[in-house]
Amino acid sequence: MPHPNDQNGRVALPAQAAPCSFVIFGAGGDLTRRLLLPSLYNLRRARLLPDKFALIGVARASKDNAAFRTEVAASLETFADGDIVAEHVRWLSERTYYVQGDFNEPPTYEHLKACLAACCKVHHTGGNTLFYLATPPEAFTLVVDGLGTVGLAREDHGHWRRVVIEKPFGSSLASAQALNRALLSVLSESQIYRIDHYLGKETVQNIMVFRFANGLFEPLWNRNHIDHVQITVAETIGVERRGKFYDATGALRDMVPNHLFQLLALTAMEPPSCFDADTLRTETAKVLAAVHRFGDVDVRDNVVRAQYCGGIADGKQLVSYGGEHDVAPGSSTETFVAIKLMIDNWRWAGVPFYLRTGKALAKRRTEVAIQFKQAPLALFRDTPVERLTPNDLILHIQPEESVTLHFSAKVPGPRVAMSGVAMRFNYKDYFKVAPNTGYETLIYDCMIGDPALFQSARNIEDGWRVVQPILDVWAEEPRTALPVYPAGSEGPAAAANLLTRDGRRWRRIDGSPGEVTP
Ligand code: BG6
Repeated sequence: MPHPNDQNGRVALPAQAAPCSFVIFGAGGDLTRRLLLPSLYNLRRARLLPDKFALIGVARASKDNAAFRTEVAASLETFADGDIVAEHVRWLSERTYYVQGDFNEPPTYEHLKACLAACCKVHHTGGNTLFYLATPPEAFTLVVDGLGTVGLAREDHGHWRRVVIEKPFGSSLASAQALNRALLSVLSESQIYRIDHYLGKETVQNIMVFRFANGLFEPLWNRNHIDHVQITVAETIGVERRGKFYDATGALRDMVPNHLFQLLALTAMEPPSCFDADTLRTETAKVLAAVHRFGDVDVRDNVVRAQYCGGIADGKQLVSYGGEHDVAPGSSTETFVAIKLMIDNWRWAGVPFYLRTGKALAKRRTEVAIQFKQAPLALFRDTPVERLTPNDLILHIQPEESVTLHFSAKVPGPRVAMSGVAMRFNYKDYFKVAPNTGYETLIYDCMIGDPALFQSARNIEDGWRVVQPILDVWAEEPRTALPVYPAGSEGPAAAANLLTRDGRRWRRIDGSPGEVTP
């Protein structure tokens, strides 16, 4: 969460978390090596990890503490950014342990319990424990049940026990509800931290600060002044080694009810009365509840899906989706989706939100673009520039982290001629950013018990409620080949049509000034 300023206007620095043990289920996986371990290291370097701390990895592979410690050090060497400080690696290593076991076998949890008790004695970690489920989704309920059986899910003697789970939170409304029910039969809602890594991104959190800490834009942030909003999450990569997961999932489930809806909710929410978790979650939930529900016809008119075919994206040759490793030949899974949706409330009535996301596109680009309405009078009709550039405000989330405001300015000279110009704030010009993976804030918030940047059961189900009608219509459609777009392109023509029929156009993903034509 954004940290408040102190009385002198300085940013108040966060304090070290309370003593705890950090348990990772799935300790041998990619998420652990690439993100969790480097994040713990960065938190230690920032002096935010408690001095009384222990790290326990749980996984099926047979190895001892020493072997796991070597792996941890190797992961930090490979994946942590910046110069590695040996002293911090040693510190983490000295309090790292390994528990070998299958997630579906009760002894695994008994061994874990014994290891936690030993850590309490040696490292004075107390009973506070964070269980991070870096596992495939099938293991979520298995692990939580296992913890429950040995009493590790119980919060007693003033100690907290928290469980972090990663998406996917279900693959439909019904499965998300079932998952929530299963988790809540063992844990209370306040113990569950559902991570959406988009909320760990500084620039995503900055959407709130930008809107609510500045008096300038909020009065304009409504249907009276905004023509439409475009939210883009474009990737250049194909499905890489994740064909099996992706082919069963598709772009809609993978990206929309979670990442794109986070961006939507933060952009469209009402100002919260404070930044506590309940208030924030209530306000973001209201946005999703107000999204106009799709009927069958709406889905056909307002949702476009497509699949990439061979081409060059970001300098790399990609084969057609159907030829990717672990993808079923003739698969009809979408790798691109674009949606026009409306929010039925007073602030946004009549303002379309256009969302798009896809793999193998022209550029990696995540942004929220707010396009303001044209000036009411065209005073400059006889000038060479008849169409004024509309003002737009672009919140660039990645790879560039910046904010741009476009407006018209007079071109110097005797004639009245105008040109679109830009004012840009670039994060790295102003702030020295310590190396980070985006998970540090989330892990730290979990340790201090601030769930504001995590999803409640209701938030998850609200997201699925919006996309479920789309899944239902698609399930009924014949499984014929989808429209295709070449890898490295702006996406399918049908997505361009979604806007051109409204007299609008997408911002180009490749950043060039031209139009995206159908
Ligand atoms: C993940 C999706 O949640 O987000 C991936 O499963 C996607 O398919 C990734 O590539 C995108 O995250 P980021 O941070 O690179 O935008």
